[in-house]
Amino acid sequence: MAIVIREANGLDLPEIMKLEISSFANDAWPEATFHSELDAPHTYYILALEDEDLVGYAGLSKLAGSDQADIQTIAVREDKRGLGIGRQLMDALTLEAKTRGAKEIFLEVRADNSVAQKLYKVFGFKQIGTRKRYYQPDGVDAFIMKTDIKRKDNSEPVVLGIETSCDETGVGIVRGNQLLANIISSSMDKHAIFGGVVPEIAARAHLEALTPVLNEALEKANLTLDDIDAIAVTNGPGLAGALMVGVGAAKALSVATGKPIYAVNHLVGHVGADILDRGELHTPTIALLVSGGHTSLLLVRDLLNDVVLLGETIDDAAGEAFDKVSRVLGLSYPGGPEIDRVAKEANPNAIRFPRGLTLPKDMEKHRYDFSFSGLKTAVARHVELAESKGEEFSIGDVAASFREAVVDVLIKKAISACKDFEVPRLLLGGGVVANSRLREVAREQCEANGIELRIPPFSLCTDNGAMIAAIGAQLIMAGRAPSTLDFSAESTLPVTTVQS
Ligand code: KG4
Ligand code: ZN
Repeated sequence: MAIVIREANGLDLPEIMKLEISSFANDAWPEATFHSELDAPHTYYILALEDEDLVGYAGLSKLAGSDQADIQTIAVREDKRGLGIGRQLMDALTLEAKTRGAKEIFLEVRADNSVAQKLYKVFGFKQIGTRKRYYQPDGVDAFIMKTDIKRKDNSEPVVLGIETSCDETGVGIVRGNQLLANIISSSMDKHAIFGGVVPEIAARAHLEALTPVLNEALEKANLTLDDIDAIAVTNGPGLAGALMVGVGAAKALSVATGKPIYAVNHLVGHVGADILDRGELHTPTIALLVSGGHTSLLLVRDLLNDVVLLGETIDDAAGEAFDKVSRVLGLSYPGGPEIDRVAKEANPNAIRFPRGLTLPKDMEKHRYDFSFSGLKTAVARHVELAESKGEEFSIGDVAASFREAVVDVLIKKAISACKDFEVPRLLLGGGVVANSRLREVAREQCEANGIELRIPPFSLCTDNGAMIAAIGAQLIMAGRAPSTLDFSAESTLPVTTVQS
């Protein structure tokens, strides 16, 4: 549930007092004190609301003309602690202190309240003194803490991105639009004997790979966790169990280091990969994302605010079709490179395989959708028939004709989308982009239609953490608040949800 932060007013007093009393018991302020605090011109009190329910509040005081601000109080309802609400309140207070011209912020905290002290430390507060037996009647000391307001700009945040939606464990690090590290460990070979990704095996492999991949990425970027400004993680779409590993790890990292976390959409990440290649994303663009797990056609008018799913596969993903046909032809896994290899010198027009969802009636209802299961069946029938008749057939010709059918549909539909929406740009992403024929036809067709073709380097096309970090950095640079820790792994996350 989203948390809304807004300024408090006198009408909120009864609700505030309930939370004040339950949070501070003996130390609770009397209602009259709170009332005058809310009314005073030099104070700023804010509330955290979830579905209109008060779940936290905080207050700041800053006298005009002074360089100092004081945090007066902060409270989060007991059942809502540990979800990042305190951090959101602190963010808002710090911003207000800055806006009111403060150079330093002070606060007092009970010596026995280590949770609050930890939160303050995240915001750079250091203990500068102690007031003995300040809190009565229990006689607990107060720690005085202070932070200097750094004019840290958000122009080039260092973001660590974690990707575990399918079979690649990826950790990437970026500084703004610049790629610092992109480490990937694939569990592909573990799935080879099954001819496709086995979710449970992928999830276990992520668990094993994540820490070494994370360490390697930090090493490659020559950074420590301290240097990271924020953590980004794929929370969908993808395999539920696989996503959970990355989401769990990212949340743990965020809590342990106190760094903000951004939950990012995997498909939008693929589009963001282009930023790391050329320094920015040119929009609008049509994006064709083709991998073992997805086949999606997107219209991206604005990366963070306006991404539309035009169509997707209604059965197998394009890469999955390559993998299945490869098996039918007795070739190994992953199928894409194998089919590319045997199709090299062969005849792509030897067999006219069906082009899914391209008949006029399909184009009305499924103009931008794809279907590859009929094609896969047609290839299997062709092979069975030849074998049953004891006929010789050319594996190369079948592979080349199959590949031609897939590429034909993918590029035709992508080019139609560019024309229909008058978008002069096509971006490709996903592992199938390695396909040599796909690249060739895309190049030819884009050139013929005056469309700019963008294909990021292959290491950024396949699933990777750097593209997720890139979206995290874009969100920060756009001033977006971090995600709260209550987001979860969502295997069917819609592409319209760029950040959860
Ligand atoms: O993006 P990716 O690495 O991640 C997952 O989907 O996990 O894509 C892997 C898919 C596999 O299905 C593989 O067969 C396909 O990309 N692929 C190719 C080629 N290289 C990899 N498909 C067609 N032609 C290729 N050369
Ligand atoms: Zn992907």
